[in-house]
Amino acid sequence: MRIVVDLARCQGYAQCVFLAPEVFELHGEEALLYNPAVPAGQLDRVRQAAAACPVQAILVGDQ
Ligand code: F3S
Repeated sequence: MRIVVDLARCQGYAQCVFLAPEVFELHGEEALLYNPAVPAGQLDRVRQAAAACPVQAILVGDQ
């Protein structure tokens, strides 16, 4: 599974970092780093993170 974060939309709410810290990392208030190729063991956490993001910045793909 791959993800894309719309960094223009991301406001640094950090819900993704709390829910999937192995995939998302926040540097400062709005500099989000992430692994676009989600490891198999992180799928549920990333789906939860995408659902929890208040501005729907995390786009989840199926490939
Ligand atoms: Fe940004 Fe949403 Fe995460 S606003 S820091 S992608 S919870």
